[in-house]
Amino acid sequence: MVLNETSILSRRNLLRWAVTSLAFCGFGKQAALAMARLRTAAEARELFIGTAVAADALRRDSSFKEAILAECSSLTPELSMKWAAAEPSRGRLELTDMDEIADFARFNGLAVYGHALLWHGSIPHWAEVMLREAPDWQHVRNHIATVMPRYGDVVRYWDVVNEPIDTGHREDGLRDSPFLRAFGSSYIERSLHDARVFSPRGRLMINEYGLEYDNQVERDRRYLFLKLIERLRSKNVPLDGIGLQAHLDLRKGTVFQNAIKEFLQEIEGFGLEVVVTELDVKEADYAASAEQRDTTVADETRRYLETVLDHANVKGVTTWGLSDRYSWLRVTDEELGAYKGAWKDGSGPGLNRGLPLDAMFMPKRMHAAMASTLAD
Ligand code: G3I
Repeated sequence: MVLNETSILSRRNLLRWAVTSLAFCGFGKQAALAMARLRTAAEARELFIGTAVAADALRRDSSFKEAILAECSSLTPELSMKWAAAEPSRGRLELTDMDEIADFARFNGLAVYGHALLWHGSIPHWAEVMLREAPDWQHVRNHIATVMPRYGDVVRYWDVVNEPIDTGHREDGLRDSPFLRAFGSSYIERSLHDARVFSPRGRLMINEYGLEYDNQVERDRRYLFLKLIERLRSKNVPLDGIGLQAHLDLRKGTVFQNAIKEFLQEIEGFGLEVVVTELDVKEADYAASAEQRDTTVADETRRYLETVLDHANVKGVTTWGLSDRYSWLRVTDEELGAYKGAWKDGSGPGLNRGLPLDAMFMPKRMHAAMASTLAD
């Protein structure tokens, strides 16, 4: 469906009307916003909204499935598309999990966000040996050629390269990854060119983390990422956008809105699209009350999203999990040790609370913050 400006505006008005009416009926604005589905709020702005999923959770947890269908228009495979999962031994494809996620998406009219073709964090052992001892681009190309056409009908955005930047090592800011060691810095453009061959219409992305805070490493990473993009642009490499992972971390303070804004203006200047690809919040204070923890998480989410969503080239938001039940973020043993005695009633901190739904799939303040920021 093609949406014109009037229909988008009227959808937004409809959403505002629904929230106001619920508030009027005594629900309170927070509760009303919590009841507004993320999908409704995102679609009012023509954004997609998604979550990362692991195939086994999708398979066995019907509450998770229901929550996805209520809240999301897109799914990102948390593991199943990565090279280590897809081709654990040379030539042996393991795409059952990925096929299941793609079929679920097709059946329910959801999109899939393709994550991730080249990532140093998920190279099968055999390929690591190949990259180290007898580098052969054909194997990388085969992986791209296997995955992209198989899911091309349901995937629009592809993380072709994930996390290529590393600060404090090389002048060009590229991570000293097995791909770089095997093929030199041109591996990035090579993979984007190949991706274009196997997905002529897909949106080709580079996905990066650690771009949000006011510290030396993240300042450097923002700068080096822009430099990489500038080089790729000057060589006409097919790159359509960037993914901002957005693993927010309250231990680092609060997001540096001005720097994010400036960074996104530069990205806009390059004519690139932006997707928030892995939003979640690592907490800093597990001893506070659940209410306080949820407020802190929600406030940080709002600060981040209002900064990012101010840019017209942003196309979607994906959280790295929908419910705390399936978050990769854990309260570590070290953190538990640091808070010794904090929970006198013996309750403990429970899970990290950095996703929109709690472990029972009930919307938290982060959900309301997302719904209201999306709706604004
Ligand atoms: O399924 C096995 C289980 O059978 C085994 O007992 C257990 C022992 O460690 O491992 C389980 O697999 C783990 C899997 O997550 C499922 O929990 C893998 O070891 C572990 O490496 C894997 O981690 C994933 C990681 O990427 C590496 O692929 C995380 O779930 C996933 O959230 C994480 O996602 C990354 C993004 O792709 C890129 N950005 C950062 C983000 C978070 O690290």
